[in-house]
Amino acid sequence: MRLNQSLKRVLIQEEQLRRKIGELGAEISGDYREMSGEVAGGRPLLTVGVLRGGVIFLADLIRAIEIPLGYDFITVSSYGNATSPGELRLLKDLVDPVEGRDVLIVEDIVDTGRTVRFIQQTLHNRRVRSLKTCALIDKRARREVEVELDYVGFRLEEDEFLVGYGLDYAGLYRNLPYVASLKPAALEGDA
Ligand code: PRP
Repeated sequence: MRLNQSLKRVLIQEEQLRRKIGELGAEISGDYREMSGEVAGGRPLLTVGVLRGGVIFLADLIRAIEIPLGYDFITVSSYGNATSPGELRLLKDLVDPVEGRDVLIVEDIVDTGRTVRFIQQTLHNRRVRSLKTCALIDKRARREVEVELDYVGFRLEEDEFLVGYGLDYAGLYRNLPYVASLKPAALEGDA
């Protein structure tokens, strides 16, 4: 099976990702250098990756950030049912406490917005010093809840099923080095 036989088109090329992540890294470095740790002698920025999709973006982004930082991971799972669709819960929590820390949530994609809003609320309740969110892709077509995003790589209007660069369909395609859409036939399972 060749992964790319099921792809409809590439939406974000590898080189575009590289360039944009470099820009985001520079912007984030500048902002946090001004507001916190490095200058004020506080604790370093903590980046929080969202498993599993966000791991590839996090790995590239942190290497484009030029200030001291740490990273940790969180996993959120949907356990919605007929009466409470879209309910979310923490499947894997952060390792260390975050009270008093400058925290940057790093997400690969914001779709309905529910995942990011849940993580923002969860971490806000832990009395962090500051909380910001960086999303590689802001896909607005199916947004259900408004969320505040401080750093956005790409805003996509199309309502296509996206895979690659961490994004999956049925657990596959995450290892593609670019972001692409899937052919409808692949979604129906007969590609
Ligand atoms: C994807 C993605 C985001 C979330 C966005 O994760 O990585 O975390 O969905 O969707 P939302 O804005 O509609 O909440 P998914 O739950 O598919 O898990 P994964 O990261 O393991 O792929």
